[in-house]
Amino acid sequence: MKIYRTIISFLLVAAYSVQAATYIPVTTNNTCLLLKVNDKNRLEQTYFGPKIRNVEEMRIVDQQNFAAYTTFGTNHVFEAALRAIQADGNTSTELGYMNFSVQKKNDNIIYTTISLKDEYYDLFVDIHYNAYQQEDIIEQWVEIKNKQKKSVKLTNFASSDLSFNASKYYVSHFHGDWSNEMNISEQQLTEGIKIIDSKLGVRTTQFTHPAFILSLNQQAAENSGEIIGGTLAWPGNFQFSFEVDNMDKLRVLSGANPYASEYTLEKNEIFKTPSFLFTYSNEGTGKMTRNFHWWARKYGIKNGDKERAVLLNNWEATYFDFDEAKLTKIIDDAAKMGFELFLLDDGWFGNKYPRNNDNAGLGDWETNRKKLPNGIPYLINECHKRNIKFGIWLEPEMVNPKSELYEQHPDWVIAQPFRERVEQRNQLILDLSNPKVQEFVFNVIDKVLRENPGIDYVKWDANRYVYNSGSSYLPADKQTHLFFDYAKNLMLIMEKVRRKYPDVTFMACSGGGGRIDYGSMQYFDEYWISDNNDPIQRIFTQWGAQYFFPTIGLASHVSVSPNHISGRTSPLKYRFDIAMAAKLGMDLQPSQMTEKEYKFSQNAIKTYKEIRNTVLLGDLYRILSPYGHNRTVYMYVNENKSEAIVFNFLIRKEVYPKPPTIMLQGLDANKQYMLKEINKNPDDWSRFSKYEGKKFSGEYLMTVGLHFAMYDEYESLVIQLNEVE
Ligand code: DGJ
Repeated sequence: MKIYRTIISFLLVAAYSVQAATYIPVTTNNTCLLLKVNDKNRLEQTYFGPKIRNVEEMRIVDQQNFAAYTTFGTNHVFEAALRAIQADGNTSTELGYMNFSVQKKNDNIIYTTISLKDEYYDLFVDIHYNAYQQEDIIEQWVEIKNKQKKSVKLTNFASSDLSFNASKYYVSHFHGDWSNEMNISEQQLTEGIKIIDSKLGVRTTQFTHPAFILSLNQQAAENSGEIIGGTLAWPGNFQFSFEVDNMDKLRVLSGANPYASEYTLEKNEIFKTPSFLFTYSNEGTGKMTRNFHWWARKYGIKNGDKERAVLLNNWEATYFDFDEAKLTKIIDDAAKMGFELFLLDDGWFGNKYPRNNDNAGLGDWETNRKKLPNGIPYLINECHKRNIKFGIWLEPEMVNPKSELYEQHPDWVIAQPFRERVEQRNQLILDLSNPKVQEFVFNVIDKVLRENPGIDYVKWDANRYVYNSGSSYLPADKQTHLFFDYAKNLMLIMEKVRRKYPDVTFMACSGGGGRIDYGSMQYFDEYWISDNNDPIQRIFTQWGAQYFFPTIGLASHVSVSPNHISGRTSPLKYRFDIAMAAKLGMDLQPSQMTEKEYKFSQNAIKTYKEIRNTVLLGDLYRILSPYGHNRTVYMYVNENKSEAIVFNFLIRKEVYPKPPTIMLQGLDANKQYMLKEINKNPDDWSRFSKYEGKKFSGEYLMTVGLHFAMYDEYESLVIQLNEVE
């Protein structure tokens, strides 16, 4: 009864009709997406921008309207959100408005559904919105239902269709490849279409990320201007299409990639699109990022408000070359150095085909008896004896042809018949459209966790993408379902795993950067943005990743110098500082350090534990970009603005330094802060000495700013600000 009353009262305030027009506002605390049913009974987008106090005013003069969910039909000549082919061959769809409902899910989420139906065929389309009030995030997805006896083929199925009218449009996106992920580039849109997409099927975010920044009228700026940030919550192929039409209006279609993915919808079947998450900011990209981070910590990433463990990973320390004694020594060193978790990486399994390199054993998840005669429980115990946690690496969706799994189930892999089974890193992908394979993949994780009680952390890896997308499970007329079904079933497995193991920490690793999306992140506590731990590279990769993804999940590891990928030699402090700007870990054997390095590392870990709450849960303010500057600066401010940590990194040696003024942000102008350089090498002279131990108001720090030189190669400086009386 109570719920009923809430729904009704919301219906009353949420919609208003004037003779011909019904208006449906989807609002958050600061933004409004206003939809309208026009006199032809079609749904239109009337407005999207800052919230106006009196939405009623919108009806005084007709606004510029755009179709809210375009279809390939009879009067639309641009890209369409939906294209469906009926059994009788009719390729058009015309959606008429039926009704809508609004429900207050809780104090923060308002859920709106708008129901549409084809004017002739029994094809139903429901558009759903969750409006997250405080975070100004709108989540949109669509459900397409076929209520006809015969099937319908969907060739386009966007999650969202947003339109804009501005003088200029700039789009930034994130791109790269293995070990060079998350580069940002911005370009002005011209008439025609720009597509940002992935066709990789699995590990889809390796080249491009499912996120974009759209800036209206001007290039994107950090603290001013109108920005729309959008991201697709989907581990599968995605597509964003930006089409500037003949009238210079922009339509942005976002959704699962329709590429090679026609979907046949049988009678009563529902096609649910992935969620598209978007936010509007008129305070530039800084606010956009903070909206996503606030949202993610609450809804987008698993356990987004819980502290993370500082871990030591043996991957770069040993690769496949380890045994029980070597690992026990690393565990011992890790505990003594202050780590809270030891993570055992690849190479611990396979007996008939031991996993001693990457060409064998994947799929055979039995502990290798030669390397680890006492099994995983022995290592867990060694960790627990020293009061640290234990984690393990898995790559459950993959198989080496040289494995017992492949010998038993050669038909379980993704491949086209009569074609070469193209390997990548000597491995093939298991076909998740097949329910038996889905069960196997779930069981890999379940069995390892069940048989080895005490595992606290799982690094879930995925090291290749799809080349020849065929399934021996799907029927001939549904082969094109593979890309969509893989992603859908993968998310179902993730969900099942997390339902059973809510307290185990899971890291989404995909050879670095390959699986960073909010479809996956809701089931993962951490993500691995790159295998490249080179500190200079990391500055850029982390900078890119943080536009949409929160610091609490951003694992960053100190590794050996010279770096194994870049060959660059860099100071330990520099490597620590960049890892400490996110979720600190290490991929290095403490026993290979000098005494001085060991001491520094031990202290750095101690310092990190003191500041991690602010770093991981604080608000991020980007002060100086690494693009186009010699120095990059960013800072985190905790919730009550009593502490801030400012990270400064020099990227290029400055011969005649012209130090920039560092205007801090996000502080309380009325508070006093004590300044202190932290994580300093004890013997180093400090560039910060004139500020050290001095007290300044938030107002001074944000308007006068800090001014100090940094000019040596690989210099970094971390400042802690604490509120004082
Ligand atoms: C790729 C990951 O990104 C690395 O950290 C490591 O886990 C290897 N896979 C292991 O094969």
